[in-house]
Amino acid sequence: MPNKTAKISKNTKKTAQIAKMFLNKILKRNIKHRGALVVGLSGNLGAGKTTFIQAVARHLGIKNKVSSPTFVIIKKYSLKKPGDYKFLFHLDAYRLKNEKELLHLGWGEIINNKKHLVFIEWPENVPKIIPSHARFVYISSDDKEYRYFKLR
Ligand SMILES: Nc1ncnc2c1ncn2[C@@H]1O[C@H](COP(=O)(O)OP(=O)(O)OP(=O)(O)O)[C@@H](O)[C@H]1O
Ligand SMILES: [Mg+2]
Repeated sequence: MPNKTAKISKNTKKTAQIAKMFLNKILKRNIKHRGALVVGLSGNLGAGKTTFIQAVARHLGIKNKVSSPTFVIIKKYSLKKPGDYKFLFHLDAYRLKNEKELLHLGWGEIINNKKHLVFIEWPENVPKIIPSHARFVYISSDDKEYRYFKLR
């Protein structure tokens, strides 16, 4: 549902710009919470959640190909640039039935480390284990190329 507060993306390049702006904003903030910085990304299949995270990864200097973790659930990348965060985690909860599965995959250790930056697609599949300080990216579309981003 596009509205006045949503950012409009007409193509993947613009999505990458929005991702960069969002990343800079969340990295600048003084950290008041414990553990990892967690970002949930919501939107229909093909809305552009992975595309957004690929842009985040590029901006963090990750040279590896960042592909969708739909089947492996969790992917971890080292961050070489100086900064508070040493690892980027990219998770996809699409195939998960509940929180328990993610807990078995080490979610606790992932979010209890303040050097971790954690982006998770389909957070609505595991709502009980998303920390209360998490940030959110909501993506919707009403056209083949247009995407509307709400950043929270
Ligand atoms: N403005 C846009 N922003 C982002 N992606 C776009 C845009 N326009 C077209 N696309 C295309 O939409 C697709 C988005 O796919 P992507 O894998 O990022 O979606 P997703 O939300 O991660 O899907 P899934 O729920 O299956 O994981 C890509 O093929 C991308 O090129
Ligand atoms: Mg995806």
